[in-house]
Amino acid sequence: MSMIEKVKNKARSDIKKIVLPEGDERRTVEAASILKREGLAEPILIGAPEDIKKVASELATDISGIEIVDPANSQKSSAYASALYEIRKNKGVSEDDAKKLVADPMYFGIMMVKCGDADGLVSGAVHTTGDMLRPALQIIKTKPEMKIVSSSFLMDCPNKDLGEDGLLVYADCVVMPNPTAEELAYIAIATADTAKRLCGFEEPRVAMLSFSTKGSAKHELVSKVQEAVEIAHKLAPDLLLDGEMQYDAALVPEVGASKAPGSPVAGRANILVFPDLQAGNIGYKITQRIGGAECFAVLQGLNMPCNDLSRGCSVEDIVNTVAMTAVQAQE
Ligand SMILES: CC(C)(COP(=O)(O)OP(=O)(O)OC[C@H]1O[C@@H](n2cnc3c(N)ncnc32)[C@H](O)[C@@H]1OP(=O)(O)O)[C@@H](O)C(=O)NCCC(=O)NCCS
Repeated sequence: MSMIEKVKNKARSDIKKIVLPEGDERRTVEAASILKREGLAEPILIGAPEDIKKVASELATDISGIEIVDPANSQKSSAYASALYEIRKNKGVSEDDAKKLVADPMYFGIMMVKCGDADGLVSGAVHTTGDMLRPALQIIKTKPEMKIVSSSFLMDCPNKDLGEDGLLVYADCVVMPNPTAEELAYIAIATADTAKRLCGFEEPRVAMLSFSTKGSAKHELVSKVQEAVEIAHKLAPDLLLDGEMQYDAALVPEVGASKAPGSPVAGRANILVFPDLQAGNIGYKITQRIGGAECFAVLQGLNMPCNDLSRGCSVEDIVNTVAMTAVQAQE
């Protein structure tokens, strides 16, 4: 069974309420209908009911039984505005600003999650990553034990010799443009946690990637990764993590054995932590486009699950992301 099928089965075992702020967007309406029909989640669509129903009727999609919430007419708006004001008043947000913000479906959706009226949120078919991330970072904030939010990309590769039966987890490919060594260490730990909880990895093996393996090159960029390895070992002494190492040393047993002899990770890594967002974002796209991997992305480190879509997403991508969000919410 594929990773995503396993995730879907888990989502069905304890159905969660997932809010979709882009409620009148065509792919989102279709995805909500599938989610409801297949029992993967209880979707909540945000938007004007007449707009959403019009889209559903154009698509001939059944949205009966799906909750629709309109910020313009919701009885919750004023409670959400007060809660938002309390959270952001020390950042210069006035009561008036808070009222205006909750009229925005993205902020309204985030407040639903914050106030416990939804278990998670998925957005990004229309909004950019930054537009989706900023309210989540400002309001939901990070888990107490995590300093930063980052992302895991679950790469289901055709070559089943890689990682865990072809599944590799990449990080960070979306959030942190240029992490410090400490932030890189936190990304590694959060990714190992995601791999365990969402993908069922029994033994996360983390490679901290670089263009150098074990000091083969000397450069400040290499030093940053070496420092991240040291910090991660202190923060999570039981985690199998090693580096710095090159991509091939992480994945190919013979290369790992020759470039990093004795490493517990080299040649058999199932988690690959890239040194910055340029490398991570380019790396996952190469794996997807040339390597033929299927790719599924989640955010990690947030106090409650909120996930981003690509604006080019398909209906299936939305369904998959909601299922992963629902599983994150189960924890
Ligand atoms: C994540 C991102 C949206 C933050 O945006 P930003 O303009 O730097 O936002 P700010 O600096 O105003 O931060 C907003 C809040 O989020 C917090 N924050 C920013 N990045 C954070 C992170 N990774 N983890 C936790 N909190 C974070 C800030 O501390 C700030 O909190 P505060 O307002 O309570 O003080 C930005 O780093 C970004 O755009 N990243 C790349 C996204 C992208 O385009 N990816 C490629 C997509 S394919």
